[in-house]
Amino acid sequence: MNLHIQSKLPSVGTTIFTIMSGLAAKLNAVNLGQGYPDYSMSPELVALVNEAMKSDFNQYVPMQGYMPLREALAEKIEFLYNASVNPDTQITITPGGTYAIYTALTTVLQPGDEVIVFQPCYDSYIPNVEINGAVAVLIDLKFPEYKIDWNEVRQKITPKTRMIMLNTPHNPSGSILMQDDIDQLRSIVKDSNIFILSDEVYEHLVFDDLPHQSMLRYPDLAERSFVCFSFGKTYHCTGWKLGYCITSPELTVEFRKVHQFNCFSCHSPSQVALSTFLKNKEAYLSLGAMMQKKRDYFIGLMQDTRFELLSSKGSYFICAKYNRISDEKDSDFAIRITKEYGVAVIPVSVFYKNQTDNNVIRFCFCKKEETLEKAVAGLRKI
Ligand SMILES: Cc1ncc(COP(=O)(O)O)c(C=O)c1O
Repeated sequence: MNLHIQSKLPSVGTTIFTIMSGLAAKLNAVNLGQGYPDYSMSPELVALVNEAMKSDFNQYVPMQGYMPLREALAEKIEFLYNASVNPDTQITITPGGTYAIYTALTTVLQPGDEVIVFQPCYDSYIPNVEINGAVAVLIDLKFPEYKIDWNEVRQKITPKTRMIMLNTPHNPSGSILMQDDIDQLRSIVKDSNIFILSDEVYEHLVFDDLPHQSMLRYPDLAERSFVCFSFGKTYHCTGWKLGYCITSPELTVEFRKVHQFNCFSCHSPSQVALSTFLKNKEAYLSLGAMMQKKRDYFIGLMQDTRFELLSSKGSYFICAKYNRISDEKDSDFAIRITKEYGVAVIPVSVFYKNQTDNNVIRFCFCKKEETLEKAVAGLRKI
């Protein structure tokens, strides 16, 4: 008998988010590490879910997702991005954004394919590429703005390049794609067979009146893109793990083949509730300003610390250099400040495959003002 298996992800261990959140809980530290709100979601949306359950929406909805929800999403996309998306053939509801990304990669990738991945990046990207037998071709975003060097992208494209993975607004840096990035991307993929995976889970969390550069705005990009979203980020309910993927009708057929034997269909009452709540435009249109206020409040509080904050144009996150304080490795520094000053943060090196360390940590500011105040009271002592 040989019950030994060959790991499909030999270099993967427990993620830093689990480690830092565990440490924060054990030490009762303020947790500015993992990205989730510590304030309540909309009571109206909670009531709608309760109502859906009481009204007996508790059985499977179709594999593609509850149709009224997909219709509401198509209307929203038309309104926001001036794009016509067919709810029947182009939208699939998924159990979260991460799952949508994994499913899209699994739909497209064959062993040996190359995928351009910009780092630092959300921690699932590289394992998701590699578990499909494909190769992540890594490109560092230019520090400290975390911008894409499109010339480097041109150099790294080969006949094996199958996909480019994008994330705007970007976790962990808070950078966003601008019009010139879109122009460069369009010229690079034109006449190629390259697909785009566009992680837009923070689509509404864009600050300073800048537009969210969704792939859906550009028909030539949309036709080759899998665009992934998360209701968790939009409605302050990350624990719901509900999202969706939008792609062309042809690609949707293949996406759903993978999806239907993995999850099949997602939580019904939440979909019913969201199909009504989505009609409330204000709930998502006000999100950017609300989160910008939190960013600015945090920046204001941090003025009299020794951290040097970098720019954040979107997402839940802002990064900071700490080289005025220490030259420790960022992971050692993050663990030490959690233990000594009671504030949990994430070292940015964990978002690089080779642990590139620029002495930068990531703060999550989607927290109550009192949480941010308590955290900064600790950070001021450093
Ligand atoms: C860039 C990015 N993509 C995807 C996700 C995951 O979204 P979900 O919780 O819906 O799977 C996150 C969550 O932290 C994220 O930061």
